[in-house]
Amino acid sequence: MLEVKNLKKSFGDKKVLKGIDLTINRGDIIGIIGPSGCGKSTFLRCLNLLEKPDSGEVILEGDNLVDNKDLERIRRKIGMVFQQFNLFENMTVLDNITLAPTLLKVMKKGKAEKEADKLLDKVDLKDKKNNYPEELSGGQKQRVAIARSLMMKPEIMLFDEPTSALDPEMIGEVTNLMRQLAKEGMTMVIVSHEINFIKNFCTRVVFMSDGVIQEEGTSEDIFMNPKNSKLKNFLSKINNI
Ligand SMILES: Nc1ncnc2c1ncn2[C@@H]1O[C@H](COP(=O)(O)OP(=O)(O)OP(=O)(O)O)[C@@H](O)[C@H]1O
Ligand SMILES: [Mg+2]
Repeated sequence: MLEVKNLKKSFGDKKVLKGIDLTINRGDIIGIIGPSGCGKSTFLRCLNLLEKPDSGEVILEGDNLVDNKDLERIRRKIGMVFQQFNLFENMTVLDNITLAPTLLKVMKKGKAEKEADKLLDKVDLKDKKNNYPEELSGGQKQRVAIARSLMMKPEIMLFDEPTSALDPEMIGEVTNLMRQLAKEGMTMVIVSHEINFIKNFCTRVVFMSDGVIQEEGTSEDIFMNPKNSKLKNFLSKINNI
């Protein structure tokens, strides 16, 4: 459903992505791992054109997002969840969730509020709809961010370290919600340093380093039978923590 071809991105003279190719099929749960600074976030941001690639293609169901005049419409099919939640602090939970669809005129206010109620129920936060983000825990904020992203009925969800800013006891509530989305068939791409979560949850794992995909395979391939020397080195460091 999403195909990435020879994607390149530099910042100044620093080459961050040096030609990434990846095919994502419907229902895939793809985990992206790799050393800090290797370009994982940049790659995710290029997938929904939050960052404009220098060259290459990002094709979602036949539409190339790069240089597409209809980008805003196509981009709605891609949800994104960030480490820092990115909620509007001066708005209630309900307003955070209904803002985008009403602003973009995808839904009228009444319909958006009904939909938001359903999603808040799904993420188990119905009783928080009139609260402000500062009144929520990190895990609750991240569940609001996920509900907000689901409002646009995305076909694929991108997660950039969704649990890194959370206290350990709150990680489970977010990963459980992600498991529930997976069960419902959501296609997901997840960048995370929670190696056990990636190992147990993802159907495919991609190891990035030095601006390219060094190795990809099933969780078992990557964690039990790594071939690439940079991947072996990366895993040995993790195992030593
Ligand atoms: N907007 C930007 N301007 C300049 N350089 C940037 C920008 N965004 C990222 N970089 C650089 O690109 C490289 C890749 O950054 P990126 O955030 O994609 O790495 P990452 O793999 O997500 O790292 P981490 O695991 O620490 O989150 C880094 O060297 C970073 O400093
Ligand atoms: Mg990052």
